Amino acid sequence: MPQTVLEAIYRRRSIREFTDEDVALSDLREIVRAGIWAPSGLNNQPWRFVLVTDDETRKKLSETTHYSHIVLAARALIAVYLDTEAMYDEVKDHQAAGACIENMLLATEALGLGAVWLGQILKNKKEVNQILDLSSQYDLMAVLAIGYPLHRKQKSSRKGLDAFILKTFQEVPDVLQK
Ligand SMILES: Cc1cc2nc3c(=O)[nH]c(=O)nc-3n(C[C@H](O)[C@H](O)[C@H](O)COP(=O)(O)O)c2cc1C
Repeated sequence: MPQTVLEAIYRRRSIREFTDEDVALSDLREIVRAGIWAPSGLNNQPWRFVLVTDDETRKKLSETTHYSHIVLAARALIAVYLDTEAMYDEVKDHQAAGACIENMLLATEALGLGAVWLGQILKNKKEVNQILDLSSQYDLMAVLAIGYPLHRKQKSSRKGLDAFILKTFQEVPDVLQK
């Protein structure tokens, strides 16, 4: 298990294959706790969560996404919502949701679990709300599929840093100014 935040960041991979081992509710609550400690504009904490571990609800949710096999394989799901009545700024509240979700993914890693952020399911957010018996006050941001990783062979890559850093402004050392 990673000891530091940087280790968790670099080790984390999207996990899409899981063992049959159940995920403890206490671990799911810890993952949510990490989520709610994300920053939010004005500290408005607009996020809300639904925890799912039962077979019937997972099966119903699996029918709302192209990634049904992942939803069925994961022993637990956490649906992450924005409460539209708690929101104050469209952009900033969505940014807060992203920060919350990333905290949750890193907590999952720290707990020895694996997860993948499912976004494709948002195409059917109305159906998801119906299944979870939630009104349109709650706007689905993502579903996290969580479980114990079947393996950790996932590979991922990133472009080099210089592809992203547009400019660096820095002091020029005196010796170079002559
Ligand atoms: C907004 C968002 C939506 C995503 N939606 C899906 C999805 O629907 N299905 C899926 O398998 N992975 C999904 N992912 C995971 C990405 O595919 C994954 O993070 C990316 O390929 C990089 O791999 P890594 O997470 O292992 O580094 C999503 C990630 C984000 C941030």
